[in-house]
Amino acid sequence: MGLADDVDEILIPEEVLQDRIRELGKRISAEYNSKEPLLVGILTGAFMFTSDLLRAISVPCHVDFMATASYGSGTESSGIVRILKDLNQSIEGRHVLLVEDIVDSGLTLNYLLKNLRGRRPATLEVCALLQKKGIQRVPLDLRYVGFEIPPDFVVGYGLDYAEKFRNLPYIATLKPEAYTDPA
Ligand code: PRP
Repeated sequence: MGLADDVDEILIPEEVLQDRIRELGKRISAEYNSKEPLLVGILTGAFMFTSDLLRAISVPCHVDFMATASYGSGTESSGIVRILKDLNQSIEGRHVLLVEDIVDSGLTLNYLLKNLRGRRPATLEVCALLQKKGIQRVPLDLRYVGFEIPPDFVVGYGLDYAEKFRNLPYIATLKPEAYTDPA
């Protein structure tokens, strides 16, 4: 059985994703022209988006990664965030652009923004590929958003269920039976 057999509906096809990422890259290139932004990808989910977004940016920029995990299990976020891997560099005085795959409750981002603000960057903005509509538990100011999606659980393009499905090139929902079979 292939991975795609567990897919219920393709929410955002590959070409639509890539077109939108090219648009975001153009906007970021224009708005950060000569600022040499530091893109900070949040692992693991944002690794694919970060790499495609970087290639869509045509001005000099840098990249670093942080890895976080929330203490929650399953498909819900708890709001308590652990930093598993921190940045390799100081961000003081830098133009930082946080790159997230998905904003769900918003708790991860809220925590990260507070943490990074304390390190005194010149500017701190967010580029999120996906934002779930109407369920953020904290107010967030997201400068760049790829797509607003319904509050269903989605996988693909870096996003996982039980560490699977990250390698699908599109964003999709899963069939109900995919959640019950841990294999
Ligand atoms: C996901 C996603 C965001 C966070 C969003 O990460 O990548 O970081 O959840 O949820 P929130 O808005 O409710 O806080 P996850 O903790 O699943 O880790 P992963 O990226 O390693 O899969």
